Amino acid sequence: MAAMKILIFAGSTRQQSHNRRLAAAATEIAREFSAQPTLLELSQFDIPMYNADLEARGTPADVLRLKEEMHSHPAWLICSPEYNGSYTALLKNTLDWASSPVAGHAQWADGTLAFRGKVVATASASPGGLGGLRSQAHLAALLLNLGCWVVPRSHAVGQAHEAFDEAGRLKSGRHLDGMRALLEQTLWATQRLGA
Ligand SMILES: Cc1cc2nc3c(=O)[nH]c(=O)nc-3n(C[C@H](O)[C@H](O)[C@H](O)COP(=O)(O)O)c2cc1C
Repeated sequence: MAAMKILIFAGSTRQQSHNRRLAAAATEIAREFSAQPTLLELSQFDIPMYNADLEARGTPADVLRLKEEMHSHPAWLICSPEYNGSYTALLKNTLDWASSPVAGHAQWADGTLAFRGKVVATASASPGGLGGLRSQAHLAALLLNLGCWVVPRSHAVGQAHEAFDEAGRLKSGRHLDGMRALLEQTLWATQRLGA
């Protein structure tokens, strides 16, 4: 059986981002389960702030590239920073563009095509005690609205500034186990749903 493809990305482009670190650590963990992870960096996509007037002049090429990446992976893991109890503007803007219909396009005229039926796990990391957990609840609502199957498990890494070693690995067994359980459930559900 082919290895399960899973797209992993963080809602931050910050150089020292804890959520980018968590996404990279999750990529390694996914390989333990013989999955085929793609670690995507939002910094590699030139996506402006959404504006329908701008969109009317043509959807940016990188939005189409992002839609392709999303659509070609049946499972995703999003590592979500928490800003003011919610997820980041970067993540919202990215997902808004990715879900917006491309007028007249053979494939992407259907706005939610890249989202429907995806099995999506969320995790978060924050220097705070709750580890950004509240951002995941808001993100889950958005994902459900777009037709994703949101994975029931989640994991939040609190005190994230102390959570990773120099090689970017999670130091504590509790966080490693939590991320392993999350990825295992995600891959299991993806297989069961035939997503
Ligand atoms: C505008 C703003 C609001 C924030 N609000 C929260 C918050 O509600 N809860 C929290 O745990 N951290 C909050 N933080 C701190 C972030 O969790 C922290 O900056 C974190 O490092 C961001 O994620 P990153 O490291 O992946 O970039 C906030 C940071 C900013 C800039």
